[in-house]
Amino acid sequence: MASISLKGVQKAYGSNAPVIRNVDLEIGKSEFCVFLGPSGCGKSTLLRMIAGLEDLTDGDLLIDSRVVNDVPAAERGVAMVFQSYALFPHMTVYENMAFGLKIAKKSKGEIDQRVREAARILQLDALLERKPRELSGGQRQRVAIGRAIVREPGVFLFDEPLSNLDATLRGQTRIEIARLHKQFASASVVYVTHDQTEAMTLADKIVLLHAGADTERLGSIAQVGAPLELYHRPASRFVAGFIGSPRMNFLAAKVSAIDSHGVSVTLDHTGEAVPIAVDGSALQEQQPVTLGVRPEHLELGAGDRSKGEATLARTVSLTEHLGEHSYVHLDEPGGDVLIAKVPGNAKVERGQRASFVVRPHTCHLFTADGFAVTPLSAFAHTA
Ligand SMILES: Nc1ncnc2c1ncn2[C@@H]1O[C@H](COP(=O)(O)OP(=O)(O)O)[C@@H](O)[C@H]1O
Ligand SMILES: [Mg+2]
Repeated sequence: MASISLKGVQKAYGSNAPVIRNVDLEIGKSEFCVFLGPSGCGKSTLLRMIAGLEDLTDGDLLIDSRVVNDVPAAERGVAMVFQSYALFPHMTVYENMAFGLKIAKKSKGEIDQRVREAARILQLDALLERKPRELSGGQRQRVAIGRAIVREPGVFLFDEPLSNLDATLRGQTRIEIARLHKQFASASVVYVTHDQTEAMTLADKIVLLHAGADTERLGSIAQVGAPLELYHRPASRFVAGFIGSPRMNFLAAKVSAIDSHGVSVTLDHTGEAVPIAVDGSALQEQQPVTLGVRPEHLELGAGDRSKGEATLARTVSLTEHLGEHSYVHLDEPGGDVLIAKVPGNAKVERGQRASFVVRPHTCHLFTADGFAVTPLSAFAHTA
C-alpha cells in the first residue's frame, strides 16, 4: 500500500512543447484513481512517469513521501499492466506469471504459492500449462494482470487494459478489476482510460485531463473529483461535455436578469427565457453565456412557471429507440444540437412538436471563458 504525490510535474519530449503541464495531484493509499481524457492528452505519459519509464522534465514525484524521481522502475514497488499484454509467447501461463519473481530470486515454493493464488483469483487454474497463443484476448489480459498481482505491489498501474477486448469481455473484465481492487484493498490503483464508462464505474477519484490549447492556458488537469462530483458539478464546459452520454446540450444565451434566486438567461436563437439556480453575483446583464442541460434532464411536458421552470418547444427531427429509453433529436436553430432522453414508451416521432420542462436546479451555466458559474446550493444537482 502506497500513496503517490505529484508536485509541479511537467513533461516535454526533447525540445517539443510540454505535453504535461503543472500537475499537482495526491493519490491516497488504497485509492482507485483514473486518468481520463481524450487521446493524446498525456495520460500514458503521466502513468509512465509514475512507473519510472519516463523522466520528469520538472517537478517531483513522491511515493510514500519519498522523492523517487531518480529511483529506477524496479525499486518503486509498482506493477504495470499494458494495453498490449506483452506476454512471452514461448512461455506457459505459469512461467509468464512466475517470471518476475524468478528474476527477483524468490524461492521455488514462494513462487508456486503466489502464482497459484493469483491463478485462483483470476480463474486461470485450468490454463496454467497453456501458451499465450492458446488463450483468448480476455484470458491473456488476465494473465497480464496475474503477472502484476504475484509481485504484491503497493501500486498497480493500468494503461487502457481493456481496449483490445470486445464489448462483452470489456464489461466482464471491468467488473473483475473492480472486484480485484476490493480484494487487494490495500493496494492503490492508477488506471488510464479514454472511456468515461470505465472511469465512472471504477474510480474513487477521476483526474480529467485537458488536451491541446487548453493545456497551455489552464494546465493539464481539468478537474479532479469523485465520478458523481464531475457529473453533477463540472467545473468547466470541457468537463461538462466530456462526462455524460449523450453529452450535455449547450445553447448560446445572454444573461437577462440576476437576483437572489439565481440568473435568468435568454436563448440567442429563440428568445426563450430560462431561469438557472446559480450564483449571479459576478455576472452582468447582457453578458454572453452558455446554458448547459443534460439530455436526461429534459422531461416531456410543460414547465410550472411558479416554480421557475421553463418550457422548450421544438420539432422532433429524429428519434432513436433504444428500448428502455429513446433519444429525441430536436430542431434547434443556430446550429446547436439539442437531444432529450425520454422513456422508451413515450410516443415522440419525427415531425411532431414536443415540449420539455427545464428546471433551474438541473441547468448549468458557463461564462465565455468556459468556466462554470457556481450553483446556488451544494445539493442543487443531486436533487
Ligand atoms: N516518446 C515520445 N516522444 C515524443 N512525443 C511523445 C512520446 N510519447 C508521447 N508523445 C506525445 O505526447 C503526447 C501525449 O501522449 P500520450 O501520453 O501517449 O497520450 P494519451 O495516453 O493520453 O493518449 C502526444 O502528443 C504524443 O504524441
Ligand atoms: Mg495512452
